[in-house]
Amino acid sequence: MRRLFTHIATLAGILPEGILRKQGAEMDQVGTLENAWLLTDGGRIAAFGRAGEPLPCGADGAPLQPDETVDCAGGLLMPAFCDSHTHIVYAGSREGEFLDKINGLSYEQIAARGGGILNSADRLHETSEDELFAQALERVQEMTAKGTGALEIKSGYGLNPADELKMLRVIDRLKKATPALVKSTFLGAHAVGRGYTHDAYVQAVCDMIPEAARTADFVDVFCDEGFFTVEDTARILAAGKAAGLRPKIHANELAESGGVQVGVRFNALSVDHLERTGAAEIEALRGTETMPTMLPGSSFFLGIPYGRAKEFIAEGLGIALASDYNPGSSPSGDMRFVMALGCIRMRLTPAQAFNAVTLNSAYAMGVSAETGSITPGKRADLILTHPGWNLTKIPYLHHTPFIRKVYIRGNAM
Ligand code: NIG
Ligand code: FE
Repeated sequence: MRRLFTHIATLAGILPEGILRKQGAEMDQVGTLENAWLLTDGGRIAAFGRAGEPLPCGADGAPLQPDETVDCAGGLLMPAFCDSHTHIVYAGSREGEFLDKINGLSYEQIAARGGGILNSADRLHETSEDELFAQALERVQEMTAKGTGALEIKSGYGLNPADELKMLRVIDRLKKATPALVKSTFLGAHAVGRGYTHDAYVQAVCDMIPEAARTADFVDVFCDEGFFTVEDTARILAAGKAAGLRPKIHANELAESGGVQVGVRFNALSVDHLERTGAAEIEALRGTETMPTMLPGSSFFLGIPYGRAKEFIAEGLGIALASDYNPGSSPSGDMRFVMALGCIRMRLTPAQAFNAVTLNSAYAMGVSAETGSITPGKRADLILTHPGWNLTKIPYLHHTPFIRKVYIRGNAM
């Protein structure tokens, strides 16, 4: 199937092949082309050009003929969002805790009363695998409708071997059930499971890893005050490494936990949250392959500080933004809202926020060679906007509908 998009006012996010992430001043750059067309073929970006320029030729030397033409009518065409950090396999919701929060309890206080992650673990235990899958698939569909073409999903509401593996099977089914690109992360160390001592649970997580690694792509640990220590994290990441799992970890949400440093030590693909960081974290990240990933949706929902993205960029680092979609700290998978928070609350420029929610978020889950930019050969994961939209209006008019159509692997959603 070949699809030709014509009358594109601005094609945004153009990138030469082989660039996997942006850092520092590169984050201000967005490749664009005005008055453009774009051709997809077999779910991939085949070519693009300026209106009037000819389509590429096929093997027979004649210009390729599209099977279908989409008149973009002066809309913006951009890569779909990439969301490198979610927890969307969960059962039901936690709206009771939402009321506790309104009444003044903090995330830590709610967790200490048996709420939080353990509350979700209890519900998940009671919920069948099919029901969990159905609920999670609905969330994936909600996210794709809002423009997300690739996402990472974590376990971590099982907290015992049987339920963690149940979650990973659900994520594996989601990989096959959605055209979106899905990556899977084993987050057994999200909280200490019921019935375990802390140390026994850390050992249990290490023991779960070989089985988890059959389907999981990454390993994660909630390395933060009141959850898992740097030493626990190092043990679990070492077990993950032995099973071939690269880390993507939760760090520095509740305290300057040392999570960034231990993540970097294990060559983490990303260290996520980073609401509380200082100069030491920036130094630890400099010159590494680790993508600092900030989750402004949880800062917004919990009322905690936003990550210091501007400083990271000024120091030459890259930044990814992700939704953290979960029932406790960020009950939204809307990456346009994440981009808006990046601009409004973290003072990123629209170009920086755009790179953070596309290419860099793809990098943070290891898929930036596949998606996250307008590059021939990449998946045709695209957002077509209504006429008159540009990269500044998207975060500025932060809740005005802007999407005309989302395409994943070249097909309309
Ligand atoms: O990324 N910080 C730890 N884990 C999740 C919250 C999970 C929950 O409360 O259910 C997060 O914010
Ligand atoms: Fe998270």
